[in-house]
Amino acid sequence: MTWMSDQGPAATDRAPHACEIAAALLSPASHRDGSYRIAVLASGTGTVLAALAGAVLPIAVVVVDRPCEAENVAARAGIPVERIERTSFGADFDRDRYTAEVVAALAPYGVALVVMAGYGTILGSAIHDAYPGRIVNTHPALLPAFKGWHAVADALAAGVAVSGCTVHVVTLEVDAGPILAQQVVPVLAGDSVTTLHDRIKVVERRLYPETIRRVLDQLAAAPAETPPW
Ligand code: GRF
Repeated sequence: MTWMSDQGPAATDRAPHACEIAAALLSPASHRDGSYRIAVLASGTGTVLAALAGAVLPIAVVVVDRPCEAENVAARAGIPVERIERTSFGADFDRDRYTAEVVAALAPYGVALVVMAGYGTILGSAIHDAYPGRIVNTHPALLPAFKGWHAVADALAAGVAVSGCTVHVVTLEVDAGPILAQQVVPVLAGDSVTTLHDRIKVVERRLYPETIRRVLDQLAAAPAETPPW
């Protein structure tokens, strides 16, 4: 599937593995009733979303900005989906209005943390006001190197020997927030964007759920405090 984002057309991606779907389907519903629930924002194939569901994280809702496979992943895991469709990718895109729609859609779910998992729209300040310091993302490169949508291609083009992934807090400046976790992934001879990104995603599907679990534990330990990052 090829789709548009703020950074232009994204690479064709693969469908989630059957084992990821199965893991999501086996998630006990009771875990989703925990106090510190999360929203996952996704636009693509949803393999990271499937890993989050498979890790039995308390996902209250999935938000998508377009019709995408992530909706099907959510449906198969029994998670409600809110599609806030983005109708323009041009200069007339009203980011503040779109962000307000996302914030309003999230409100009834009472989530403590917003988890970006391949969401193709950069959101405006209203979501940071609503969830201060409580928005996280996984990025397919070792930040601060290779920010932006073409991180995997940029790393390959630069000829690096290693790349990897970074879990970080989302701030208004894109891909620049505090780093929560990173892991190196070697670049292999003959790697394409697809092969390298696929190996990075294997790591993301383990590192991201682990890190979110740690963040939720921190929030539960000090619920009234500003997050420590
Ligand atoms: C991940 O590589 C993530 O780092 C990036 O988007 C990708 C999402 O993959 N932000 P998928 O759609 O969940 O397979």
